[in-house]
Amino acid sequence: MRRNFKNTKILNIETDYEGEVNNVNTAEVPEFNVNPIPKDKKLNIINTKVSRIDGEEKVTGKAKYTMDINLPGMLYAKILRSPLPHANILNIDLSRAEKHPGVKAVLNLDKKVVSYIGDEIAGVAATTEEIAEEALELIRVEYNKLPFTVDMDEAMEQGAPLVRTEGNISEPRIRERGDIEKGFKEADVIVESTFRTQVEVHNPAEVHCSVAKWDGEKLTVWETTQGVHNAKSSLTKALDIPESNIKVICHHMGGGFGGKIALSVHTVIAARLARLANSPVKVVLTREEESYCVGNRPATFQTVKGGVKKDGTITAFYYKSYNNGGLGGGGSNAAPIWDMYQCPNCYIEDISVYTNTNSSRPMRAPGYPQGTFSLDALIDELAEKINMDPLELRMKNYTTKNRGDTGVPYSSKGLDKCYKLGAEAIGWNRRNKTPGIGKSPFKKGIGMATQIWGGSGRHGTQIDMRLLRDGILELRCGTQDIGTGTYTIIAQVIAEELGIDVKDIKVNIGDTDFPYSGVSGGSQTAASVCPAIRAGAFDIKGKLFAIAGPLLGVNPEELEVGDNKIFAKNDNSKSISFKEACKHITEGMLTTNNTRVPNPEGYAFNSFGAHFAEVEVNTLTGQIKVLRHVAAHEFGRCINLLTSENQIDGGTIQGISYALFEERIMDKQIGKMINSNFYDYKIPTSMDVPKIEPIIIDSVDPVLNNLGMKGLGEPPRIPSHAAIVNAVYNAAGVWIRDLPMTPDKVLAALEKGKEG
Ligand code: MOS
Repeated sequence: MRRNFKNTKILNIETDYEGEVNNVNTAEVPEFNVNPIPKDKKLNIINTKVSRIDGEEKVTGKAKYTMDINLPGMLYAKILRSPLPHANILNIDLSRAEKHPGVKAVLNLDKKVVSYIGDEIAGVAATTEEIAEEALELIRVEYNKLPFTVDMDEAMEQGAPLVRTEGNISEPRIRERGDIEKGFKEADVIVESTFRTQVEVHNPAEVHCSVAKWDGEKLTVWETTQGVHNAKSSLTKALDIPESNIKVICHHMGGGFGGKIALSVHTVIAARLARLANSPVKVVLTREEESYCVGNRPATFQTVKGGVKKDGTITAFYYKSYNNGGLGGGGSNAAPIWDMYQCPNCYIEDISVYTNTNSSRPMRAPGYPQGTFSLDALIDELAEKINMDPLELRMKNYTTKNRGDTGVPYSSKGLDKCYKLGAEAIGWNRRNKTPGIGKSPFKKGIGMATQIWGGSGRHGTQIDMRLLRDGILELRCGTQDIGTGTYTIIAQVIAEELGIDVKDIKVNIGDTDFPYSGVSGGSQTAASVCPAIRAGAFDIKGKLFAIAGPLLGVNPEELEVGDNKIFAKNDNSKSISFKEACKHITEGMLTTNNTRVPNPEGYAFNSFGAHFAEVEVNTLTGQIKVLRHVAAHEFGRCINLLTSENQIDGGTIQGISYALFEERIMDKQIGKMINSNFYDYKIPTSMDVPKIEPIIIDSVDPVLNNLGMKGLGEPPRIPSHAAIVNAVYNAAGVWIRDLPMTPDKVLAALEKGKEG
């Protein structure tokens, strides 16, 4: 992949957006916990490119991921999983496995029925992984096969094998506003289309892994998790032991994408085996298990209908989606259509379809990539029908309030900037006025899509910090770094507030012995944690000023920090180095703690973005190549330009992958996933990824929190594939409404296009 960080556009746009933010009533400015950073303050560390503080540890292999935890006497667990998609268990004989040399514990989960290939039945702990695997072979299970279905369409047919006794199709989850019939009557043009999306597997670089160790009644679990405190409370319930007896640790993680939010059964098995064997137990899922046992993004079959007046006013949206959630619910994809564009009349139905596959889990912006795909393709179709530029149609239906401009105001919205700068960067004017035009078999085109997401942060994160006499600031918080750079942004916020270097901050996270914080999901970590961190650092600063003031003969309120110094605001000659001041701390250390306050009421807090893709379609082979990808995002104040670019790169690449390559393939006859490895499950290589051009709209949300920040984890994942789909239409003049857009589908669409 060609990376060029210098390429990022950084724009300092005034925080006073025209229009939308001016409706902020300053009388209602919320409790910030600490005053917002003054508007005219020059920032030295926030909104710069600070390299990861744990980067060296990671690249030298010193950083301990769960898989790196090896304890004296540690055993290895393997899990016996159902080879059948649906069966009763009549009998299970563990005796031969128990007697196998090297086996130290065997655990029967006492299941009467298994419901997917991969369903856990038993666990074995042995001195080596190989012996544990051998022992699995020695377990005899007698099954009574039951009818099954792993295919969404098949599951919906009359008389299909029942996955759930009450039926394979859930009641619709309905949302509506306005009058949908009236809305469509007002429309000059109505377009209805259907869309399909595939099951996508999380496939983080690091597979799920747990190490469990008992010391008497106390349990320590090293866990790949997006939430150490959440894992702890789930383990409390699963094992029925007091919360005070459990400690969960996750210092580093190689991605989760939602698949590591909830506690998985293998962790509970490891803990129970460790107790039985009286030895620590490690379990590492294989890539195969990672593929079909720990969740995925549900497949969808969506019907979308939109009405528009000739002048571009959207009058109505109808949306219905069947979502294959496996054994679990299929979620909803409708948030984008519900919120994104001005539309007074909207009717939505989300329906779960159950199949004998493992339960879906949240996956990077659950539902939004599916919904944005259909919505933004529909917008382009509507635009073409009324002969309007698709970007102009989006601007025509721009909103300043949520729920399609019928709800509460957005606290800030920089989408117009994303549109403008993204369009300029890609050269929007170069797009084909007539899709598919030209005689060359290589057809180029440009498309775009819009992103909305939440990620405004939650209240309740607790932190504590202490400033030592050697000038080192130690922070403790039970949040975690799932690979996004949490360590680094925490250090930046403290360093900025205290005017010291990032290297003087010791960030301690990823351990339930530290104060509470929630899961790293929903792009919530940064905006949940950083405001409390900043408030804590502000407090420590005040305490240090109280020491430094008398030393300098200056009223503490007249002091300021910067450049590793404390100095008088009005007289720079009165200064003391930060470290020198710390030496005068008399009682060992300065300490404080803080809790993240709730977000204010009365606003919608959302991040926004727009992606623009340029593609080339080879009409002879059906191959699609993404030539350029511009990703413009507005997420309030940007803390770190490097980690933000990481998120934009990663999310965009996952979107390219979703658009063109990846898909879980099930064998309907035997009920098994047949591409559960990285050879058959296609993801892009660096050769498939173009230069991704990030545009970060640096702005500050005026009401949200003391940093004016929102999250960026999920946003780049939301519009990337949708922009590519629209670009393919612009290039080749054919719609592909079934992801991934593999060459066979492209050729079939071109063939159909020729027929007329
Ligand atoms: Mo995300 S799906 O909230 O990790």
